[in-house]
Amino acid sequence: MYASFKSIGAYIPDEIRTNQWFVDRMDTSDEWITKRTGINQRHIASDDQTTSDLGANAAKIAIQRAQLEPSDIDLIICATISPDYFCMPSTACLIAEKLGIRDTMALDISAACTGFIYAMQTAKAFIESGMKKNVLIIGAEKLSSIIDYTDRTTCMLFGDGAGAAVISATENKDEAILDIQCSADGSMQDLLLTPGVQSQEKPFMQMKGNETFKVAVRTLTSDVRSIMEKNNLTNKDIDLFIPHQANYRIIKAVGDALKFDDHQKVVTVAKYGNTSSASIPMAINECYEDKRMTKGDMILLDAFGGGLTWGSALVKFSGN
Ligand code: ACO
Repeated sequence: MYASFKSIGAYIPDEIRTNQWFVDRMDTSDEWITKRTGINQRHIASDDQTTSDLGANAAKIAIQRAQLEPSDIDLIICATISPDYFCMPSTACLIAEKLGIRDTMALDISAACTGFIYAMQTAKAFIESGMKKNVLIIGAEKLSSIIDYTDRTTCMLFGDGAGAAVISATENKDEAILDIQCSADGSMQDLLLTPGVQSQEKPFMQMKGNETFKVAVRTLTSDVRSIMEKNNLTNKDIDLFIPHQANYRIIKAVGDALKFDDHQKVVTVAKYGNTSSASIPMAINECYEDKRMTKGDMILLDAFGGGLTWGSALVKFSGN
């Protein structure tokens, strides 16, 4: 049995927060933010919207595009670092309830910006083992709830949103997800963290941006090279390179080092900022809705985030 990437969906909250919002409140400028990050705006969830609301909205679209009913889903995995509740219940359980899915295994994955790739790897393993048939994976974030809006070095980077996909069992090898690799290294845990139960500090995200930037470029470049070499692919075999959207300069540095052309690189960071685990599925969804991605296309994904975690995936899109 193989795992195939059947469908994609996304939900992006309405409110747009431009760079000017930050300029009005702190010592920064539109020029600094645009030049250093490539971000012009980000979307922010309303006070009464939770991460599970965003995730459930994206999931409904993905299930419908997979031509399934919610009752066909036999595993729900939600990647998030901004869950509705501290510790429990998991955001996946809340999404299951919002979709009317009961008696189904549901769990969260905490792998920061690499969360969606970790979720896909987990779905693939469950399907290949024969244990599950239709796995709903979600990357959902209300990062605005864990951001310190007095910290000018991080607050302008992040936005809210959600993306979801259905990964289904198939006997057709041509439809299979080709390969996924996921890694972690806890020795650099201090680069990106959110203080929790062991700390008196407020639970807001903290990042050593410049150090993280350098490790991200180096790690992503070598990780993407390794998955392509392992699968005997060159950049000409890739239709779309969809990296995690943290900073345009990171995307450009990695894309240039790997010699991807502009038409292969997918860049959405200007509109949405960094939405952590939601950024890759939101970008895939945009390619799908713009008809930039069609059935059979070979997509290369890569992500890097707090933990540290990182991963890459070679995915053949098998939806309609
Ligand atoms: N406006 C104006 N000046 C600023 C701002 C701001 N908003 N923020 C910082 N500065 C200043 C700094 O104080 C510093 O000033 P100094 O030179 O006088 O000390 C100067 O700008 C340069 O700061 P750097 O931190 O060196 O700037 P850099 O070019 O590295 O850009 C950024 C910062 C955008 C955060 C970048 O480092 C970055 O994108 N890092 C990686 C982010 C990432 O990939 N994270 C991983 C995923 S996130 C996750 O897992 C949740």
